[in-house]
Amino acid sequence: MAESQLHPVPAAGTPPAAAPHRLWGGRFSVGPAPALEELNRSLPVDRRLWAEDIQGSRAWVEALARSGVLSRPEARALDAGLVRVAERLAAGDAADADDEDIHTLVERLLYEEVGDLAGKLHTGRSRNDQVATDFRLWALGAGERLDQELRALGATLLVQAEQAIDLVMPAYTHLRRAQPVRVAHWLLSHFWALERDRQRLADALVRVSVLPLGSGAIAGCAFPVDRTLLKELLGFRAVSPNSIDAVADRDWVCELIFVAAMTGTHLSRMAEDLILFSSDEFGFVRLPEAFTTGSSLMPQKRNPDGLELARGKAARLVGDVAAALAMLKGLPTGYNKDLQEDKTLLFGAVDTLMLVLPATRQTIEGMEWQDGPLARAVHDDGLLATDLADDLVRRGVPFREAHGAVGRLLRRAERDGVPPGDLPDAAWAEAHPAFLAGPRPRVSPEQSVQARAVPGGTARAAVLDQIAAGHASLAADARRR
Ligand code: ARG
Repeated sequence: MAESQLHPVPAAGTPPAAAPHRLWGGRFSVGPAPALEELNRSLPVDRRLWAEDIQGSRAWVEALARSGVLSRPEARALDAGLVRVAERLAAGDAADADDEDIHTLVERLLYEEVGDLAGKLHTGRSRNDQVATDFRLWALGAGERLDQELRALGATLLVQAEQAIDLVMPAYTHLRRAQPVRVAHWLLSHFWALERDRQRLADALVRVSVLPLGSGAIAGCAFPVDRTLLKELLGFRAVSPNSIDAVADRDWVCELIFVAAMTGTHLSRMAEDLILFSSDEFGFVRLPEAFTTGSSLMPQKRNPDGLELARGKAARLVGDVAAALAMLKGLPTGYNKDLQEDKTLLFGAVDTLMLVLPATRQTIEGMEWQDGPLARAVHDDGLLATDLADDLVRRGVPFREAHGAVGRLLRRAERDGVPPGDLPDAAWAEAHPAFLAGPRPRVSPEQSVQARAVPGGTARAAVLDQIAAGHASLAADARRR
């Protein structure tokens, strides 16, 4: 088929020479209205799939050659042409192209390279299985890049935890001081959340790694292409089992966006902690100057903008999950153009995380814990109330009774305006006589964290075990193709 036959008859007033390259048009008497063309054009978004598009096409050429659709010389010429197109695109060629999408642009450039032979490339293929293949290939690469960033952040949290192993801070429930914990323990709490994100990512990538190519527009391919060969050439784990599902399935897009939203939510919660902990009111940690910004009006300000943006960007990620599911929920069977929106969503989610993750990591790398404010915050007797009750329990008092006794003791201390340790024996005895059976309890933040020696607790050895487990977890690869 001559190249010109692929073009629709140009709209009135359009000179024939200006007819754009299109992958369709034979049954049309006019080209699309400019308004539709604008709406329909996805090149600005899907241009970044060019390398995957070429990769998929090169594999397709090989499969067509092995099935006898292309002669060996034809396949060699097409392959060499695709390589030249890739070189041109890598060099920034066709930057101002206004083709309908990346598939159209690549085919147009291939015509420039190999002439009419380019018209044989699309045999047995549709953009429906082509775009699904390109996008999955891209997602596998993006998943690996995300995993690397998540790992780097995890490693940073482990280094900080090792350094802060002997620092103690208050842990909060309801944003009220609850019990002392090691700073390392707080850091590790965020580490484990991000490790779950890596696990979820790895699990989702298993379902991404499925080959749609060979499914055609919806009903499969009428030429005997070897789909197992295609799968292997492109590095997928499996071949899609149903051509209708293969072109319509975007579950994996939703899953990856959810992984991004969950990760963004974790980063947002950690950012919120750090925004509070670095405030004048808490003063627990100093953020690196390079990750704060000033105010145009108030000379004293050092604002935690990076962390605030980590928190703010999570909002869009959360919205993207709803957008992806909404895109799918009403679609009839098969490919529908709505699916073109999938790329804006997933690209946006990945780009957002790839901005937030390095900034968050570097903020954490450069932050400095402040001994003085931490020590002052942790020497709050209320924090040790549970330890006092536990002490009574060890003296044989039922916990519920011990809880009441410590409450009475703290109320008395508050009334008298002294720390409980300064109350006379009589006051302790009044709260509970068991307090005076043996030496008066001596509790401290250090004793409190050491007492929690169970796995997952705050004792030094337990936290060191966590750090070791963290290193082992980081060594596991997300790539499970
Ligand atoms: N740009 C389209 C997309 O991203 C490519 C597939 C077009 N398929 C079609 N039948 N028009 O979904």
